Amino acid sequence: MIPLHALPTVNASLNATSACLLLAGYGFIRAKRIGAHTGCMLLACLTSTLFLASYLYYHAQAGVTRFAGEGWIRPAYFLLLLSHTVLAVVIVPLVLRTLWLAFQRRFEAHERWARVTLPLWLYVSVTGVLVYLLLYHMPSAEACPMCSEALFAPGEGAARAGLVKGYAVSVAVLLGIPLLLIGGIAAMVVRAAHPKK
Ligand code: HEM
Repeated sequence: MIPLHALPTVNASLNATSACLLLAGYGFIRAKRIGAHTGCMLLACLTSTLFLASYLYYHAQAGVTRFAGEGWIRPAYFLLLLSHTVLAVVIVPLVLRTLWLAFQRRFEAHERWARVTLPLWLYVSVTGVLVYLLLYHMPSAEACPMCSEALFAPGEGAARAGLVKGYAVSVAVLLGIPLLLIGGIAAMVVRAAHPKK
């Protein structure tokens, strides 16, 4: 069972995975590999759906996490959060319509809709990761009661060891996100440069 305090990191990873799958799916269709394109896009639907379920569960249990940043970063953060949230709602019917057209084999219309759906979906996935980084890992933020600040608080025993381990895992996952993104982009570029004959 994943502990509640680890869920924001899991959610950010699901968002990053969706972004990678979307990039790879785009690379595959540019290389005319329809099967791989379909697979990546369906997996992106799955990871985005898992994210939504896990996100709603986390906030139902843990309530709201307050953003602790001050100064210019504060309006910037709320603007990012607003655009992310609004577009996260907007993309749902767009994704469903794009999928529907593909399964109806109406590929011309699919392509037209997908040109709007894909960049918006990518924006939502990437900003999801950025919101997480700002909220839980910005150096000046004291927003996460289970993260860095707690490491320096007095305490001992299994709970503290679990905290230290949880923090180390979340940092490792975070470091993995850029690598995943770079890997996805590299795969896209390689596939586009060497289309399957
Ligand atoms: C919501 C998920 C999907 C998105 C965001 C998406 C995105 C795209 C994009 C952006 C293109 C145009 C690529 C270009 O500019 O050359 C495209 C084309 C295409 N997609 Fe998808 N796709 C999705 C799901 C699917 C599925 C499930 C299938 C298969 C059933 C599929 C089959 C195709 C095919 C065959 C083309 C080529 C159309 C043509 O060249 O006429 N796509 N898709």
